[in-house]
Amino acid sequence: MLPRTDLYEAILARRSVRRYDKALLEQSMLTQVREIISRTVPLIPENRYEATLRDVAVGEDLVRDLGAYGRIVSPPHYLTPYMLGQEYVLEDLGYRAEQIAVHLTAMGIGTCYVGALRREAEVRSRFNLPEEARVGAFLIFGRPSTTFGGRAVNRLMRAAAGASRKLPVERLFFQDTFDNPATPATDIAPLIEAAQHSPSAVNAQPWRFLQRDGQLYLFVTRDSRRYGRGPQEHYCFYDGGIAMANITLAMEALGMRGQWMMLGRAEPQIPRHPTNLHPLATLVMERNHIMGGLSPVSTIEYDQHTS
Ligand SMILES: Cc1cc2nc3c(=O)[nH]c(=O)nc-3n(C[C@H](O)[C@H](O)[C@H](O)COP(=O)(O)O)c2cc1C
Repeated sequence: MLPRTDLYEAILARRSVRRYDKALLEQSMLTQVREIISRTVPLIPENRYEATLRDVAVGEDLVRDLGAYGRIVSPPHYLTPYMLGQEYVLEDLGYRAEQIAVHLTAMGIGTCYVGALRREAEVRSRFNLPEEARVGAFLIFGRPSTTFGGRAVNRLMRAAAGASRKLPVERLFFQDTFDNPATPATDIAPLIEAAQHSPSAVNAQPWRFLQRDGQLYLFVTRDSRRYGRGPQEHYCFYDGGIAMANITLAMEALGMRGQWMMLGRAEPQIPRHPTNLHPLATLVMERNHIMGGLSPVSTIEYDQHTS
């Protein structure tokens, strides 16, 4: 399998875009977006996923209507995804939405999640979704505003959302035990870097990784004060799914093979961990597919100015 640097670059280059060119995307692009949606890979195959593409109506303010934060200027389109299922539904919603967000980034389309957990019941009734449907977040998308003013606004709004502050890897990655913050070895460093670049609600970055006995475990923090108290505490699961998607996409991009196994399902021995961490999943990797001959990650250049 050939390494796909474009895909890896898109993972690192994706930024939340909050000011858009208000022109609608061309039909041919929207057709490609629909194809991307239809090709998303499930985390839990039994879950049923639907995502409808809509144009933003004149006067429609999704941030206000969803009870979300910040301001998003002149977005032309958005996706209303929902999921029906029994297990890991929020994780799976995040997993699928992030695949869409990264592939749209690779096409030069800007995206921004807008969280809906505080108002899911209202969202269900407003969009005629089934009563048991989970939504998690909408995904706004369109061409990023390229005017000087638009770029400046995007930078300012990202700063206001705390987005420029991504946690250093030593805060996210631990070797053998959670007492031992570490730098990941070169084989998995690009995967951890992909996760580090994940978007998360209020930039909470709940993901924590433990490598032990050759296995990579993903935990999420359950007590992030950034989310606030209430239904929005569950963004940690949605955001965990996003980080899993970035790792899956990074493996695809780098020609590595592996599969996520949810820890609530089969893993008999979950490593010891602090009580504020919730064990989510472990990555089962096929060692002989590692790296696929790609040049070191630090040499890949990517555009930092998309937003
Ligand atoms: C589930 C979810 C909900 C989000 N909700 C909002 C929102 O309501 N308003 C907003 O401006 N940004 C929202 N964001 C974007 C985050 O603020 C952003 O991902 C984070 O600050 C990191 O910045 P980055 O996406 O540029 O890397 C959301 C992101 C996620 C994953």
